[in-house]
Amino acid sequence: MISSTVKFLLNDKILEIDSPDPNQTILNYLRSDLKKTGTKEGCAEGGCGACTVVVGELVKGEIKYSSINSCISFVPFLNGKQLLIVEDLISNNGSLHPVQDAMVKFHGSQCGFCTPGFVMSLFSMFKNNKKYETELIKDSISGNLCRCTGYRPIIDAAKSLNKVEKKDVFSKNKRKVIKLLKKINPKNTFINSENKKFFSPKTINDLKSIIKKNPNLNFLAGGTDLSLKVTKERKEISCIVNLKEIKELDFIRINKNYIEVGAATSLIKFENKIKKYYPDFYTILKRYGSVQIRNVGTIGGNIATASPIGDTLPILLSLKADIVIQGLNKRKLLPINNFFTGYRKTKLKKNEFIYSIKIPLFKKNIFKAFKISKRFDDDISSICGSFNFEINNNKIKKVYIAYGGMAAVPKRAKACEEILKNKPLKISTFIKAKDYLDKDFEPISDMRASKEYRLEVAKNLLIKCFVEINTKKLTRVI
Ligand SMILES: Cc1cc2nc3c(=O)[nH]c(=O)nc-3n(C[C@H](O)[C@H](O)[C@H](O)COP(=O)(O)OP(=O)(O)OC[C@H]3O[C@@H](n4cnc5c(N)ncnc54)[C@H](O)[C@@H]3O)c2cc1C
Ligand code: FES
Ligand code: FES
Repeated sequence: MISSTVKFLLNDKILEIDSPDPNQTILNYLRSDLKKTGTKEGCAEGGCGACTVVVGELVKGEIKYSSINSCISFVPFLNGKQLLIVEDLISNNGSLHPVQDAMVKFHGSQCGFCTPGFVMSLFSMFKNNKKYETELIKDSISGNLCRCTGYRPIIDAAKSLNKVEKKDVFSKNKRKVIKLLKKINPKNTFINSENKKFFSPKTINDLKSIIKKNPNLNFLAGGTDLSLKVTKERKEISCIVNLKEIKELDFIRINKNYIEVGAATSLIKFENKIKKYYPDFYTILKRYGSVQIRNVGTIGGNIATASPIGDTLPILLSLKADIVIQGLNKRKLLPINNFFTGYRKTKLKKNEFIYSIKIPLFKKNIFKAFKISKRFDDDISSICGSFNFEINNNKIKKVYIAYGGMAAVPKRAKACEEILKNKPLKISTFIKAKDYLDKDFEPISDMRASKEYRLEVAKNLLIKCFVEINTKKLTRVI
């Protein structure tokens, strides 16, 4: 059965929207259609957190809460979910939610413009965790900007939640909401409204039929890149095919040789799995956008954008990952090194999509990765360097190095690798090798960094890598 209705819970009430405009953001729907103006618009590009709302979804029979940026999520995303907005946090008798109460007590708000967003980010943290350590708090609000209060009072407010009763009105209402979520479990969706089409298939087979009939479609995963066409470029997307409802694309399989990650797996889910195998991959993912971005953004989306500054790309290149590409008739494997063909261009053909990514597990290798950005959190890389060394008897046996932000595509440093191979692990080897980066890359100057800065930092990262390997110590600021 196919439905043209988006059905979701606004707190604990079922709302149905028949044939919504598939390009309308949740933020615009809330403010313009529902006249709920607590949720604010700051940047309209996922960068300030003023528009943060929380969605509840059923995961293994329990409600999992996720903060998202409503400014870059389209209305059909709500299908089958619970939407919680700042207006819902005050209970019927007028008492504040513990998160709001803490913000008042610790003076966490001045002008108040950012406050609903902070409150919703902290609400999601409050509901998903039992203890609120500083690291968790900082991570939870890394996608929220405040221009006047400053962050200390907000962090103090969050810490005080350790001492409050965890059962809130939402805990009491939980059974009812779970029942309602089960009731509104969405079907295959097809919306045709305002000359725009939106498909949300549930299986790969359904997806293939849609692809056959709609040659000019746009795949939508987390939308953290695609939606900006609407919110920033002011363009319309006439045909969207949502991949996020296809369970076959949302998985993480691990065997002794590799980790395979389904293309529509969220970055937040992936970061927790990869930590054990490649801690630096985890560290970089922790600095990828914000929790709101990683809650929806996917690894497949990051690869498909082919951005020269996509954070996972140099890492996947140095780990020699393979991309599994699904066509209408067959599935094929392509080394990621052969995937990028030019600025934001890939080998994907019209009828193809990314099914998964296979990341080899180099158990004996040393893997390191460094992200350099202007701001620590919620900022895109100026340069990202990734290093994978096999070292035997103090000699470099194999080496795979890749950089982002150094060329039109994320790219391996082949000349530098060649000079390091079969050489002793000592500083003179690395000092010689770093100058080969001049042969590998001709970076450009842009708003993030000058070409001179990029080359200098890329070389320094290689030396940093040697120092960390040689001393067996991390030389990290944070
Ligand atoms: C505020 C903000 C902060 C950000 N910070 C970072 C950062 O720190 N590091 C970083 O690397 N990026 C960052 N980004 C960029 C963005 O998060 C990435 O490009 C993201 O990975 C895209 O994934 P998505 O799932 O949201 O893709 P979408 O936006 O849904 O799709 C992106 C593109 O990929 C295509 N696509 C998606 N899935 C598939 C598939 N399975 N097969 C074929 N094509 C597909 C879509 O059609 C579209 O063209 C940021 C973005 C924002 C808005
Ligand atoms: S309005 Fe800034 S993140 Fe949405
Ligand atoms: S209280 Fe004014 S921006 Fe945060």
